[in-house]
Amino acid sequence: MPSPADTLLAQLDPDRIPGHVAIIMDGNGRWARERGLERRDGHRAGVQSVSRIVRAAARCGIRYLTLYTFSTENWRRPKAEVDALMTLLVRSAVEELATLEENNVRLRTIGDLEELPEEPRVALMGLVESTKSNTGITLVLAVNYSSRSELTRAFNRLLAERHGSEEPITPQDICAHLDLPDLPDPDLLIRTGGECRVSNYLLWQLAYTELYFCDCYWPDFDAADLYRSLIDYQSRQRRFGRTGDQVVDVDCGDKTSDRS
Ligand code: IPE
Ligand code: IPE
Ligand code: MG
Repeated sequence: MPSPADTLLAQLDPDRIPGHVAIIMDGNGRWARERGLERRDGHRAGVQSVSRIVRAAARCGIRYLTLYTFSTENWRRPKAEVDALMTLLVRSAVEELATLEENNVRLRTIGDLEELPEEPRVALMGLVESTKSNTGITLVLAVNYSSRSELTRAFNRLLAERHGSEEPITPQDICAHLDLPDLPDPDLLIRTGGECRVSNYLLWQLAYTELYFCDCYWPDFDAADLYRSLIDYQSRQRRFGRTGDQVVDVDCGDKTSDRS
């Protein structure tokens, strides 16, 4: 008997798998509260979900998966929760290395790692270094990330390079100074946990991204849920400003990306 995930996977059009899926992994705290557990237990369960979803994403041919792991606004949480999240980052970095290697996953990050405590910073940088030659799916962790801070960094890098030039800046200049200039824009954004907002995530990059919100809490989100979101994505017509008649299918191959 095929699993529900296998059945859904078989329904996907392999030629229209989104190249880049970004996820706002939300609902760990509520998942824990509903079970009478501590919030940090929810975060621990959330890490298992990450592992599962990375494998499921690689299996269906997604090339880039960007996960919102810790926002710049998350420092506002109680210190005990922030400490638990940082400890979990370090522990997962150690425990997940073998799995990343086995699955040929390349790990990269966006966000300001400089402001992280030393242990998680070193652990993450270690993972980036050890997986840099892997050629499978690229897993991007957004850590100490917010889109406004990324854009501010981009403008400051740009400013520093221009030596007072008064040439107008272009969208391509902005793209070239983002945290990972070669990362394509997401095709699909998934937010779990029932909230319909983007919470300062990838605001520039989401210009023409398809949005998918689901009520499921992140620790419950599984391969079948991921494939359901892809089936929904494949039912949409991406128009990039054109009329429906001009567009023949989801991947019309002429995106609005400013990264060329
Ligand atoms: C997402 O789950 C994880 C992080 C933001 C680090 P939450 O901790 O936000 O869970 P809820 O939204 O409170 O349920
Ligand atoms: C967004 O979730 C950040 C991460 C998933 C890391 P939040 O739970 O922090 O978002 P808000 O505060 O509800 O918008
Ligand atoms: Mg939340």
